[in-house]
Amino acid sequence: MIRWPFVTSFIILCCVTCIYTQQCEQSVDLARFDCHPDDGASQERCEARKCCWRLPIQHTNSTEKHRKSFQDISVPLCYFPSDFPAYSIVSNEPTSFGKRVRIVKSQTTFMPNDILDLTVDLLYETQQRFRIRIYDTFNKRFEVPLDVPVVEKKADMIDYEVKLAQKPFAILVTRKSTGVTLFDSSLSPLIFADQFIHISTRLSSPLLYGLGEHTQPLLINITNEWKRLTFWTRDIGVRPDTNLYGVHPFHINLELNKTGQTSFHGQFMLNANAMDMNLQPLPALTYITIGGIVDLYVFTGPTVQNVIQQYWDVIGKPLFPPYWTLGFHLCRWGYGTIENLTEVMQRMHDADFPVDIQWTDIDTMYAHLDFTYDNKTFHGLPELVRKIKAEGRHYMNIIDPGISSTQPPGTYPPYDEGLAQGIFITKYNSTEPIVGEVWPGPTVFPDFTNPKTVEWWTKFLAAYHEIIPVDGMWIDMNEPSNFVDGSHEGCTSNSLDNPPYTPHVYGGNITAKTVCTSAQQYLSSHYNLHSMYGYFEAKATNIALRTILKKRPFVLSRSTFAGSGHYTTHWSGDNAATYQDLYQSIPTILNHNIFGMTFAGAEICGFNDETTEDLCTKWMQLGAFYPFMRNHNEIGIKAQDPAVFSWEAQQIMKQALLMRYSLLPYWYTLFFKASSISTTVIEPLFFEYPNDENTYNIDRQFLVGPALLVSPNLLQNSTTVHAYVPQDVWYEFPSGIQINKVGQYVDFETPIQKINVHVRGGFIIPMQIPGPNLVYGRTNPLEFLVALSQSGSASGSLFWDDGDSMDTIETKSYSYFEFNVTTSNTLTIYALLTKYRDLPIVLGGVKVLGVHKSVTNVNVNGKSYPNFAYNANDNILFIYGVNLNLLDDKMTQTIEWSASA
Ligand code: GLC
Repeated sequence: MIRWPFVTSFIILCCVTCIYTQQCEQSVDLARFDCHPDDGASQERCEARKCCWRLPIQHTNSTEKHRKSFQDISVPLCYFPSDFPAYSIVSNEPTSFGKRVRIVKSQTTFMPNDILDLTVDLLYETQQRFRIRIYDTFNKRFEVPLDVPVVEKKADMIDYEVKLAQKPFAILVTRKSTGVTLFDSSLSPLIFADQFIHISTRLSSPLLYGLGEHTQPLLINITNEWKRLTFWTRDIGVRPDTNLYGVHPFHINLELNKTGQTSFHGQFMLNANAMDMNLQPLPALTYITIGGIVDLYVFTGPTVQNVIQQYWDVIGKPLFPPYWTLGFHLCRWGYGTIENLTEVMQRMHDADFPVDIQWTDIDTMYAHLDFTYDNKTFHGLPELVRKIKAEGRHYMNIIDPGISSTQPPGTYPPYDEGLAQGIFITKYNSTEPIVGEVWPGPTVFPDFTNPKTVEWWTKFLAAYHEIIPVDGMWIDMNEPSNFVDGSHEGCTSNSLDNPPYTPHVYGGNITAKTVCTSAQQYLSSHYNLHSMYGYFEAKATNIALRTILKKRPFVLSRSTFAGSGHYTTHWSGDNAATYQDLYQSIPTILNHNIFGMTFAGAEICGFNDETTEDLCTKWMQLGAFYPFMRNHNEIGIKAQDPAVFSWEAQQIMKQALLMRYSLLPYWYTLFFKASSISTTVIEPLFFEYPNDENTYNIDRQFLVGPALLVSPNLLQNSTTVHAYVPQDVWYEFPSGIQINKVGQYVDFETPIQKINVHVRGGFIIPMQIPGPNLVYGRTNPLEFLVALSQSGSASGSLFWDDGDSMDTIETKSYSYFEFNVTTSNTLTIYALLTKYRDLPIVLGGVKVLGVHKSVTNVNVNGKSYPNFAYNANDNILFIYGVNLNLLDDKMTQTIEWSASA
């Protein structure tokens, strides 16, 4: 028999013989788990659920005062008694992957269709990855169609320990080395009904990261707060306290060890159904999902980057973007006519701004029909696009999933053929497509889970590409968005459209502004697949673009699910031109990185509402350090392309763009690493300084890779930035002057023309002199910015390939260099792979920061070299005009500097 092995570490467990009132005893309010998470709780309803109804014991207003929105929950009045019907173990067998446990219970709960016999698989997948799957023993249920690794053999060495409790059944996972809790389901009852699954876990600290897509600070701190987060993809302008465009049920939990060394672990609930997560300061988290199974991963880290790598091993690594996509993207909804579009392009050109990628929106379409353009208002668009491309620039356009269903028969092949092939989402129990409404009026929705749809999509995209040779696809409205609730005919009254429990989605029900959840898709019901609509569309579009372009695909998707980053990049949707949104873009993009969408951005200068010159200038400065840099705004709003602003503002924006462009070799190498070894591209400060608790909640600053600290001015009337400088060696960028205040907050004087960027000692940043655009600029010489650490060392790397061929990483058709400076004042460049040789890679110069002795002699590859200058005031060494061919057959090259004896 399995015994309760850890009873002392558990709280609030009454013996089964307690009388009812005692089973409601709670020592602290924080340990109450909500038995009436649906609205409308009352004593009567609560007691009908066999739950306890009591006022909080410590009824202070400490938990109440934080209630700003309906998502800020509080101490529940209705909570589970300790003798709530529970599962107990009836068998426990070892298997090749770990263990298979059967659990049963005899009493039902308050939710219809309790499943009384469950199987629990415990999969010891890798040393750091543990997976728990709880499912119906007899009936197959929906499981998320994500290609996760299938592990059949239990890992030999593991960093975690797993214990089970017999009755009530519970799982406890701890970190072997420290005993810290990584998962503990004993705190509240496991409920597994057909449309209501409830499972809680203790958290190891109240400090969490992740859980998207939500508008929230980077750090989710529930020390004093109860909080509910809802997961269900939804088209809604960016705002706090609501489910948004994407679903990423993954979090990282910080472990506060007594040792002073911080560790991290993560959890990923692989479930696509509408879900609430209730967070409470115990600290604990309760997952409440309305379908599927419990499929929960625990990642043991122990560093935060390890947790992310372990998560991406499951969901897929981020895509590797084409080089040109790192340039400046300009878009707006409402160019309106080709004349206006060309006028904007001309003024950007005249003002000498690089626009590597020009975008257009739905207003280029004829009557908002996908795969068309309006030959009147945008007469000549195909020629214009060809001209843009001939100049070495790129063009992107939008496409929405809704296909118009009301064009005269025979006039709109995407609909006619799609209908004939049966590739649209159908009404419940019918073969007829469900009809909603999007931009072109009544529309049907392609079902991208059907392989036939991918062929249909590829065919029409290819035909469109023949006319308008787009360089990628912007896929929008794919939550999927619907201007009517459900469909033109409403929805059914069945439980797929009206589940017994509705998570707290915006709009109050799960069919709000999307298609009826009872609608049918190839793989399952929309009820199960809704939040993966954008995921499947992105995957299909990625596949289609590979077929059509035969190049590395670029897809930008608004709706995403865990794993989308493998196929698409993401922008944060419809933000507004406010300073709050300017700030919010930082935690949001940092979170996208954590979710595996490293190439992410937010609408620069704001999408909704009129921007101002001050805001737009600051936003262009910050945006120059977004992974994906696009300026886009709404129809009917004043233009906000950089060329409309004053000469002064333009110069500042240009300077920001030049900074970005000069750093692109560094960025591109970061993207290569993200796609190959799973490191993030931009990082919060605590990633690099995990033992410095000052960094835990910093989200007004961030790092690009490990080496560039960006501390932007996010305020309207301020010329000072109050920024944290971690304990380390830092040099101002680009001046190279070392700063002396570290390990503290510093007030940086920041007049509008300044961006606070600092380079971290110990790193070498590969840079390049920008050209007129990213195609022509790629042959320009490189420069290495060497920022020496305290001990005089530094290292860096450079990835180089043709920029947009498919699979260059997989086929190793690239060049890769590593370089370092050791304490002996020698920069050594190792050419580790030189497979890409079509473009020259020439090192023009080296700038070394933190050289404390006057340099009198420089040798390049062993020969004395005269072209250098030493700035003794700032300790900077410039070595210029070196023109070192990095593809030279010599495996290593050296640049050495020294003071004469
Ligand atoms: C949505 C998109 C926005 C786009 C608009 C028109 O609001 O989020 O980016 O401009 O639709 O297509």
